[in-house]
Amino acid sequence: MKPTRWAGRAAGRRAVVGWAAGGALACLAGVGAFLGIAYRSGLPTVPTPKASDFPVELVSRGAALATIGDCIVCHTADGGAAYAGGRALATPFGTLYSTNITPDRETGIGGWSKEAFKRAMRDGVSRDGRHLYPALPYDHYRRVHDGDLDAIYAFLMTRPATSAPAKANELIFPLGFRPLLAGWKLLFLHQEEFTPRPDHDAVWNRGAYLAEGLGHCSGCHSPRNLAGAEETGGSAYSGGMAEGWVAPALNGAGPAAIPWTADSLFTYLRTGVEGRHGAAAGPMGPVVHGLSRAPESDVRAIATYIASLSADRTAPETPAPPDRTAEAAKANPAAAALFAGACAGCHEGGAPMMTQGRPGLSTVTALQLDRPDNAIRAILQGIHPPTGPAGPTMPPFAASLTDAQVADLAAYLRTRFSDRPAWTSLEAASATVRKEESQP
Ligand code: HEC
Ligand code: HEC
Ligand code: HEC
Repeated sequence: MKPTRWAGRAAGRRAVVGWAAGGALACLAGVGAFLGIAYRSGLPTVPTPKASDFPVELVSRGAALATIGDCIVCHTADGGAAYAGGRALATPFGTLYSTNITPDRETGIGGWSKEAFKRAMRDGVSRDGRHLYPALPYDHYRRVHDGDLDAIYAFLMTRPATSAPAKANELIFPLGFRPLLAGWKLLFLHQEEFTPRPDHDAVWNRGAYLAEGLGHCSGCHSPRNLAGAEETGGSAYSGGMAEGWVAPALNGAGPAAIPWTADSLFTYLRTGVEGRHGAAAGPMGPVVHGLSRAPESDVRAIATYIASLSADRTAPETPAPPDRTAEAAKANPAAAALFAGACAGCHEGGAPMMTQGRPGLSTVTALQLDRPDNAIRAILQGIHPPTGPAGPTMPPFAASLTDAQVADLAAYLRTRFSDRPAWTSLEAASATVRKEESQP
C-alpha cells in the first residue's frame, strides 16, 4: 500500500494524477451506466488549421496561458517531443499515459475543431466521445474563459506536428472502462466558469482566476475525498499529497514557520526558492518552472490571491522556531556528526549559502510539516533547480546514506528546528521512498 492516495511514481519526470480511488469509481459504475448519461457523441473532424489562420498575438497569449496550465509537464515524455504525450503517470491503480496534443492529424489533435478542444478541456470528453480521466484537470480548466481556451487552441495548433500514437493505459480492472467516468462527473464535476468577486480588486481576481483555473493549485494543495475529487469549502487549500510529497496547506492552517506574504510568494513562485521557506522541490518544481516563464504580472496576481488565503495569519511575523543545536546533538550525537560532515558546508551559519541571504534550515517548511516525507525526499533525491542551472541545488544522498542515517538526520533536524512533535517511523519512510525510486 502506498502512503497516500496520490502517491505514485511517474517514470522520469513526475506528474500528478488527481483521480480517484478505484473502489469508489467502481461503485459509481452503476450510477453512470444506469442513468444512460455515459454516452457522448463524437464531433466531426475538421481540416487542420494553418499557422497563418491565427493572429500572432493570440498564439503568444496562448503560449503564456499554456505555461501557467503546465500542459507541457504532463504531455511530454522524457526525451520526447514537446506536447507529443506518452508520459507515464503512475497511480496506485495502474499507469495512465498522457496523449499527443500536437496538431498531427492521425495521432494528435490536428483534426480537432475548437469546439472539440473546448469540450475536452471543460467536460473531459475526447473528440470521438470517449470520457477522459480527470488526470487531465478539467475540473479546473472548465473555469477558464472561452477566449483563453481559444488562445491555447491557437498555440497548440501552431506547434510542430509530431506523430506519436497513444500508449495503452495499464489500469486495474474495471477502471479501463471509461463510461464509469460519467458517474464520477455526475457527482463531482460542477465547477463553473470563473466570475470575478466584486469585493476584491482586479489583481486579486486575476490571481484567483489563474490559480483556480489553469494553475489548478488546489489540485495538489487540497485534500481529496475517497473518489479522488477535491474537497472544497473550508477544506480547500488545507493541504494534500502529490506523488508522495506533502503539498502544504496554503490557508491559515499552513505550517510555514513564518507567514507567507505576497512578496515572498512571488519570489518562491518565480524562482523556486525563498530564503525563509525553502525550495520548490518534487512536483512543485515543474509548477515553478512554468511560472518562471509566465508573465510577471500574472505571477504577482497569483501571489496576491494565495497570500489572501492565509490573511488571518499575517499578524506580526512569528519568530522563527528556536535553534536547539545543543539539545538536538545530545539526543542524537551520531546525526549531529553526520550533519557537520555532510550538510554543514551548505546549511550551517557562515556557509556560503547563508551569505546569499538564506538563513539555512531553521524555518524551511519541510521541517515543520506533520509528515517527514518532504524532508526525507529532499535528502535522498536532492534538490534540482527548477528554473535553470543558476537555481538552488542540493546533491542526492541516496547512494551515500543508509535508511538509518537518513532517519537519524531527519529526527535531528526536527528536534533542532521545530517545536512540533517528533516524527515517527522515519527509517521505514526512507525505505519506502528508496523502493519507489528503484523501480524501473
Ligand atoms: C496533470 C497532468 C496533465 C496536465 C497538467 C494536462 N494534461 Fe492534458 N491530459 C492528461 C492525461 C493523462 C490525458 C489523457 C486522459 C485520458 O486518456 O483519459 C490528457 C488528455 C488531454 C486532451 C485530450 C486528448 C485526446 O486525444 O483525447 C487534451 C486536448 C489535453 N489533455 C490538453 C491539455 C492542455 C491544453 C493542457 C494545459 C492547459 C493539459 N492538457 C494539461 C494529463 C494532463
Ligand atoms: C503537482 C502538484 C502541485 C501543484 C499543481 C501545485 N503545487 Fe505547490 N507544492 C506542491 C508540493 C509537493 C510542495 C512542497 C514542495 C517542497 O517541499 O519542496 C508545494 C509547495 C508550495 C508552496 C510552499 C509552501 C510552504 O509553506 O513552504 C507554495 C507557496 C505553493 N506550493 C504554491 C502553489 C501555487 C500558487 C500553485 C498554483 C499555481 C501550486 N502550488 C501548484 C505541489 C503542487
Ligand atoms: C551543496 C549544498 C548542499 C548540501 C551539501 C546539502 N544541502 Fe540541503 N539544501 C541545499 C539547498 C540549496 C536547499 C534549498 C534551498 C533552501 O532551502 O534554502 C536545501 C534544502 C534542504 C532541505 C529543505 C528541503 C525543502 O523542501 O525545502 C533539507 C531538509 C535539507 N536541505 C537537508 C540537508 C541534509 C540533511 C544534508 C546533508 C545530508 C544537506 N541538506 C546537504 C543545499 C545543500
